[in-house]
Amino acid sequence: MASDLSNFSGQVVLIVGAASGIGRAAVHLITSRGGKVVIADLDKAGLASLQKELGLKDNQVKVVNLGDQSSVQTLITSVISDHVQIDALINTGGVVGPTNTKAEDVDWAAFEKTITINLFGTIWLTQAILPYLKARKYGRIAHVASIAGKEGNPGMHAYNTSKAGMIGFIKGVGKEVAAEGITINALAPAVIRTPMNADTSEETLKYMLGRIPMGRVGEPEEAAEMLAFMASKACSFTTGFTFDASGGRATY
Ligand SMILES: NC(=O)c1ccc[n+]([C@@H]2O[C@H](COP(=O)([O-])OP(=O)(O)OC[C@H]3O[C@@H](n4cnc5c(N)ncnc54)[C@H](O)[C@@H]3O)[C@@H](O)[C@H]2O)c1
Repeated sequence: MASDLSNFSGQVVLIVGAASGIGRAAVHLITSRGGKVVIADLDKAGLASLQKELGLKDNQVKVVNLGDQSSVQTLITSVISDHVQIDALINTGGVVGPTNTKAEDVDWAAFEKTITINLFGTIWLTQAILPYLKARKYGRIAHVASIAGKEGNPGMHAYNTSKAGMIGFIKGVGKEVAAEGITINALAPAVIRTPMNADTSEETLKYMLGRIPMGRVGEPEEAAEMLAFMASKACSFTTGFTFDASGGRATY
C-alpha cells in the first residue's frame, strides 16, 4: 500500500498562533490527520479553550510572545525538551497593526510593533528551530504571510512591509537549507473569515473583497489545508515559495 504523505502519525507539529482563526483550524486538521500538536500563542484563554476542546496534555500547550526573541527561543527549547522532536512548524501568529493610515502619517511605535511580531517573530522562530531540524535532516516550516506582502493594501504600511519581509526571508532560507531535508514555505491569503478582520476598517475590507474574483472571503479551513500540505512529507520538492490562497486575486 502506498504511504499517505499527508498523514502526520508519529510527528510532532508545533502550531504558533494556534488559539484563533487559521491557526486553530490548522490544529484541528493536523490532529485529524494523526499528528501530535503543540499549540502556542500569546492568548492564554484561547489556548485553554482549545486544550479543553481537544483534550491536550499540559505539555502540549505553550504561551509565547512572538514579539520577544527570548520567549520564542524558550518555546522551541521547551517543545524539544518535552517532545524530543519537532517535525513541522506552522506559524500563523500575527497582528494587523494600523489600517487606514496614510504613509506620511505612519506612527513609528505602532509600525515597529507590527514588524516585530510579524517579521522578527517569523525570523526568530526560524532561527530557533533550524538547528534541531538540521540535526535530524528533516523538517517542514510553513509561515503565514499575506497577499498584502505581494500586492500591498493602501493604508496598511506596517502590515504590508512585515509580510513582504517574510516572503523575502523565506526565499533565502529555502535555498540555504534546500539540501538538508528541510523545506520552508509561506501562504499568502487574501481575506479569510477570522477574528483578525474584526477591527479592519470597512473601507479596507471593501477594497480587499472587491479584488477577489471568487467574490467571497476564504474560510480558515481552506487556508489550513494548504498549511497542512506545506507541513507534511508531501511537500518535498517545493521550498522558498509563497502559495496563494486568494480566490483568484493573485495568480503568481
Ligand atoms: N484573516 C485574514 O484575512 C488574513 C489574510 C492574510 C493573512 N492573514 C495572516 O494569517 C495569520 C493568522 O491570522 P488569523 O486571520 O487567523 O487571525 P487571528 O487573529 O484569528 O489569529 C492570530 C493569532 O495570533 C496570535 N498572536 C497575536 N500576536 C501574538 C504574539 N505577539 N505572540 C504570539 N501570538 C500572537 C493571536 O493571539 C491569535 O491567536 C496572520 O499572520 C495574519 O496576518 C490573515
